[in-house]
Amino acid sequence: MTRSIRPLVAGNWKMNGLKADLAIATEVARGYDASLKAAVDLAICPPSTLLFTATAALIGSRIATGGQDCSVQPAGAFTGEVSAAMLADAGASFCIVGHSERRTLHGEDNATIRAKAEAARKALLVPIICVGETQGEREAGKALAVVRRQLKGSVPEGLDAASLVIAYEPVWAIGTGLTPTAADVAEMHAAIRSDLARIVGKNAAAGVRLLYGGSVKPSNAAELMNVANVDGALVGGASLKAEEFLAIARACA
Ligand code: 13P
Repeated sequence: MTRSIRPLVAGNWKMNGLKADLAIATEVARGYDASLKAAVDLAICPPSTLLFTATAALIGSRIATGGQDCSVQPAGAFTGEVSAAMLADAGASFCIVGHSERRTLHGEDNATIRAKAEAARKALLVPIICVGETQGEREAGKALAVVRRQLKGSVPEGLDAASLVIAYEPVWAIGTGLTPTAADVAEMHAAIRSDLARIVGKNAAAGVRLLYGGSVKPSNAAELMNVANVDGALVGGASLKAEEFLAIARACA
């Protein structure tokens, strides 16, 4: 953790969640008590079909919502796309961009992700820009180089600390139960912080929240959150269980 930075725990529901599952969000809200509120920010990124109702269900809870992706386009003939302004209109405060599932399954490159982050900012959303290496890249000793290239290509210049979140999610740790060692996370997050200084300036970089994501569970959250320069978590599977998500938030607090 970075002492001067208020941590953020964000849940990425991915393509999970029907109306009935809003009960998960309301259960998280019930468990987000005064001591947690004093220590950690929470956000839930449901599928866009649930964004409006999830935001409404969370009114008064101080839990933010976010989209999982946005179009690079502002509006128009782009069937199936959802614009950043639409997400904001539905109540979102954040938007995940560049998740590895988008990079891999939808061929999104760094330039596209940067354009999406810029589109998110135009709509006053805070982009959560995801970076992370594959297993092969780590085994080849290229993890740092890959992530630094992703950062350089996908993070817009000139954002302030409050307008940007970075999530380091090693692809091989997502949904697998595997996690990097604390030392590997520390090395990567330090490199991210120092490279960000070149992109957004030293002052902004010092305050940007750097989340770790990939198989974060109540059992490993405390260890991961105690690593230097880890300012919260981007949680997939465990964010679909209110008690687990809250336990991870407590580990951050
Ligand atoms: P898991 O927590 O299920 O590994 O997913 C991580 C993730 O991809 C969050 O964006």
